[in-house]
Amino acid sequence: MYGLVNNGVRTYVIENHGKACWSAICAKAGVDEQEFETMTAYDDAVTNAMVGALSETLGLTVETALEVFGRYWVGFAQSTAIGKLIDMSGDTFWDRLRGLDDMHERIQNTMPELDPPGFDLEDMPDGSRRLHYHSSRNGLAPMVVGLLHGLAEECGLEVRIDHLVAKADGADHDVFGLSVMTSEAAA
Ligand code: HEM
Repeated sequence: MYGLVNNGVRTYVIENHGKACWSAICAKAGVDEQEFETMTAYDDAVTNAMVGALSETLGLTVETALEVFGRYWVGFAQSTAIGKLIDMSGDTFWDRLRGLDDMHERIQNTMPELDPPGFDLEDMPDGSRRLHYHSSRNGLAPMVVGLLHGLAEECGLEVRIDHLVAKADGADHDVFGLSVMTSEAAA
């Protein structure tokens, strides 16, 4: 993952748990404590080791740690230099979801080694919606749950997310059922 993501983990830990906690996590993960180069693509093993150490240090499951970070990432990514260049301002939560592939594609212009996720929003006949999440990576579905909650929160919504189909169970990709808990008029 690009250093931007690793710096997101670093900033999350320092903001919420302090520098000493970050040092402990780095020591456990065996990674250098320095800030990461935002525009450098690091091996995913670095990110995975940090998330593993973070979950152990904070006493969370890896899934919960990923979800917490996903929620945090929405605000953090938009506050970074590259995030500020990206128009995340679709009119509604659903527009923003539909725009995620275009957004990551634009990021790819400046981060050529980006290996972005792919999302498809499916309107079901009963009016509900399903989000299909494709990735070359494994294990990040809990982060997507956090990302979706974070994105919904920014749009003034609370969403219910059901993990209907899991790549971890051998499926080709993950599928989430999405329904709005608060009034859609607020979107
Ligand atoms: C301005 C906001 C955002 C920026 C700048 C951004 C940027 C990035 C970057 C740099 C990566 C690392 C990919 C790599 O290094 O190969 C990434 C990964 C990812 N992003 Fe975004 N992102 C943003 C918002 C979002 C949102 C709102 C979602 C979903 C709701 C999302 C979903 C993901 C996922 C799931 C990954 C992991 C890659 C994978 O699944 O293989 N991102 N993003």
